[in-house]
Amino acid sequence: MILVTGGAGFIGSHTCLKLLEGGYEVVVVDNLSNSHTESLERVKKITGKDLAFVKADCCDEKAMDEVFSKYNIDGVIHFAGLKAVGESVQKPLEYFSNNLNSSLVLLRVMKAHGVKRLVFSSSATVYSADNTMPLNEECKTGNCTNPYGWTKYMSEQIFRAACVADPSLTVVLLRYFNPVGAHPSGLIGEDPKGIPNNLMPYVSQVAVGKREYLTVFGDDYDTEDGTGVRDYIHVEDLARAHLCAVSYSEKSEPGCEVFNIGTGKGSSVLDIVKAFEKASGRKVPYKIGPRRAGDLATVYAGTEKAEKVLGFKTEYNLEQMCRDAWNWQSKNPDGYNK
Ligand code: NAD
Ligand code: WQD
Repeated sequence: MILVTGGAGFIGSHTCLKLLEGGYEVVVVDNLSNSHTESLERVKKITGKDLAFVKADCCDEKAMDEVFSKYNIDGVIHFAGLKAVGESVQKPLEYFSNNLNSSLVLLRVMKAHGVKRLVFSSSATVYSADNTMPLNEECKTGNCTNPYGWTKYMSEQIFRAACVADPSLTVVLLRYFNPVGAHPSGLIGEDPKGIPNNLMPYVSQVAVGKREYLTVFGDDYDTEDGTGVRDYIHVEDLARAHLCAVSYSEKSEPGCEVFNIGTGKGSSVLDIVKAFEKASGRKVPYKIGPRRAGDLATVYAGTEKAEKVLGFKTEYNLEQMCRDAWNWQSKNPDGYNK
């Protein structure tokens, strides 16, 4: 059985679906601080399979110990975490406490119960700003520009140190680039609370009429059209990467390995606007605003290592990402609040 922490969230719910389809048994632990159990109800509906759900905080060692005692867990995928970059600047202690304690508690409880395999949600945000593209796993990390980024950087250090101390432990660190899209059924997707921080959910909400226009954060970057370029990856591809990581962890030598999970291709903000307008048949009005502090001109992944070692290659293109994001948004204009 696989324990999926944060499994009710955006990436977690899509991964639970893939795990169930792949024949794994799943138990989700989530405190629902940024999600609804409705996502898991829909995962069950799509797959016709059941999963176990425990409402608990991953920082609560006693509760986690009970989960490990009750279920026969052979591996963990650790999604649980707070993820809003701007909020992390306002509430750094909350971010360090939640994101680091959850990793520490998990490692302690895994040790107590003899569980040896973990996949961790890291982020491209751990890379320093002064690298050249594409980013490969050897590129410089650190010098993060916000507390959220530091929590991912520090969690990576914690997992590496734990693997050195316990040579029987296997940890797979996945550095995601920009996850977007939704399951093609339109039943599960991204349901941000309040004003979306990320581009694609913001664009979706403009297209559906919930927001008037998009503000493009700068059009004077050194990129083809002057707007920021990122590596957007379909959440379906990203979810599948977790299955590759789980099966890799079942076969590999113990230790800590890190992989970029992206497409290797960059798209600009205006590319996204155009692709979304095409997919939705709606206009996405936008205004050019100032640059957002901390943003880089261009970020995209080197994907060779994930391809060679995990056997992972993305399948979805930008058109499909926008089509599925729109399918979810138009069918669920208010997300899981129906
Ligand atoms: P999400 O907020 O939808 O999912 C995270 C889930 O974790 C939520 O369901 C939330 O309720 C839960 N959670 C948070 N703290 C918890 C705790 N202490 N105990 C139990 N549950 C807790 O976010 P997501 O986009 O699905 O991201 C999943 C993971 O991937 C996060 O760790 C995030 O930092 C990382 N990540 C996300 C992105 C992205 O752009 N979405 C990019 C890189 C990395
Ligand atoms: C994408 C592009 C913006 C919103 C963030 C985190 C990173 C990771 C993924 C978790 C940029 C532009 C955005 C808007 C805009 N998350 N933009 N108007 O910044 O690449 O990465 O999410 O680990 O840590 O930093 O993603 O979606 O915020 O921005 O013009 O309203 O869209 O400037 O060029 P980003 P994003």
